Amino acid sequence: MLRLFTPRLVLRTPSPDDLSGYLAYRNELSGLATQMMAAVDADRALTFLDTQSSLGEDACGWRMFAVERREEPGIVGEVGVFSSAERPREGDLGWWLNPVHQKQGFATEAVQALIGWCFSGRDLHRVTAHCLRTNDASRRLMDRVGMRLESQSVESRWLGGRWHDELGYALLQREWAARRPDTAAL
Ligand SMILES: CC(C)(COP(=O)(O)OP(=O)(O)OC[C@H]1O[C@@H](n2cnc3c(N)ncnc32)[C@H](O)[C@@H]1OP(=O)(O)O)[C@@H](O)C(=O)NCCC(=O)NCCS
Repeated sequence: MLRLFTPRLVLRTPSPDDLSGYLAYRNELSGLATQMMAAVDADRALTFLDTQSSLGEDACGWRMFAVERREEPGIVGEVGVFSSAERPREGDLGWWLNPVHQKQGFATEAVQALIGWCFSGRDLHRVTAHCLRTNDASRRLMDRVGMRLESQSVESRWLGGRWHDELGYALLQREWAARRPDTAAL
């Protein structure tokens, strides 16, 4: 089981036991509205968590980390990275936090740990992330962790019955290392 530690959080491989906490943020209305996504039912969520719980360390595809507060057990959100065999040194990041635990810096802390794992644990060269142009919280998060705005695409995403503009952010391993003196030798 993968585990990453930050001052206030543990990021770990999820398990089927996370189902109720997972559904609590995954189907929460403000998050669905922000991302123009549909809710997921319990059966599909359970299958997803079961698959994630048994992923090999080097598996491609979406890898989710459950975000848990050190002082209170239980999943409060997720961060993750998508990788592919065709582009093994790149990763596309994502995040989602229960609103009860938002606006306390937890997502920033978790994403910083995720990026550190991608660059020093997985030796990725480059990570990217995308959001709808209207997703201000995600944009601020990407700014805070040092990601660079690289692209703005117009009406590139069809969601909820209409087209949306998207923003693309990126960070290179060497840019990340330059921001952190302790990893400059990478
Ligand atoms: C994107 C998302 C994870 C951001 O959550 P968030 O709570 O804004 O981000 P953080 O947990 O890092 O908290 C940072 C905020 O807490 C504030 N804060 C309060 N106390 C803090 C503390 N002790 N330490 C750090 N920040 C603190 C910061 O000032 C910041 O506020 P601001 O964004 O208004 O400037 C959240 O909005 C979400 O889950 N959205 C739904 C899913 C989604 O859109 N995912 C992205 C798809 S691309």
